[in-house]
Amino acid sequence: MSIQNNIKRMTAPQITARKGGDPVVSLTAYHAHTAALIDPFVDFMLVGDSLGMVMHGYDTTVPVPLDLMIMHGAAVVRGSSQALVVVDMPFGSYEESPNIAFRNAARILKETGCGAVKLEGGAHMAETISYLTKRGIPVMAHIGLTPQSVNVMGGFKTQGRKEKEWESLELDATAITDAGAFAVVIEGMAELLAARITKMIPIPTIGIGASVDCDGQILVLEDMLGLSPRVPKFVKEFGNLREAIQNSVEAYAKEVKARKFPSREHVYGMIKGKGGTTRKTGSDK
Ligand code: KIV
Repeated sequence: MSIQNNIKRMTAPQITARKGGDPVVSLTAYHAHTAALIDPFVDFMLVGDSLGMVMHGYDTTVPVPLDLMIMHGAAVVRGSSQALVVVDMPFGSYEESPNIAFRNAARILKETGCGAVKLEGGAHMAETISYLTKRGIPVMAHIGLTPQSVNVMGGFKTQGRKEKEWESLELDATAITDAGAFAVVIEGMAELLAARITKMIPIPTIGIGASVDCDGQILVLEDMLGLSPRVPKFVKEFGNLREAIQNSVEAYAKEVKARKFPSREHVYGMIKGKGGTTRKTGSDK
């Protein structure tokens, strides 16, 4: 990663400036190669801690370590050159105190080259968000269904479907805005409330399982590509990679068993002439 490279990228303030304008397009990315593929189409890519469930087989995001986020974050930065890269702060890396959060967020920025971090939580995280932003770390907030709190919520539960829940969710939205978050992910929230919060706050809302009226949308890449075994209601599968991969692997296995692969075009022949060979083999025949 060069500084030059980072300057050409979308920045956190440019995302904030999109409030109420063209919808912000975003997806998760965990690897250099998928980052390169989605880079021309997204405004920002999120190295989400969902990678613990999607790639590493955990049931929740709770076990994801900071070092793993940094490793994937650096790969995504290396693979992309235009989109802002936002890296999730994993459970346990920021809740204890603003200065521990700063130490870990600074590690993420320094060691990955990303342009911002994301952390979960509303009003109770406002002090930390303010501490980080005042010290040079752009923070994307995340309210509504916050998967790192799965053990407190008793499952992945949609928020705000009862009107009596609205007040505290609205307070979360205003608190993280006042604290200086440059944008906020709204996950798993009743559509009406997500739309209302979008009107209420001056920073972009990025919806996932929220509302088409949010200022932007995000999905987990593997979900929208049709690679994930479980498809939640809020996911639209824009592709069917599950079937494409299975068909390709089945075809490969058949050809290996039938000794059809590798064929002549995929093997190396001998070099002819001095010090080489006169034998005719493989692709030289
Ligand atoms: O970890 C993640 O992928 C996320 C998105 C679902 C917003 O936080």
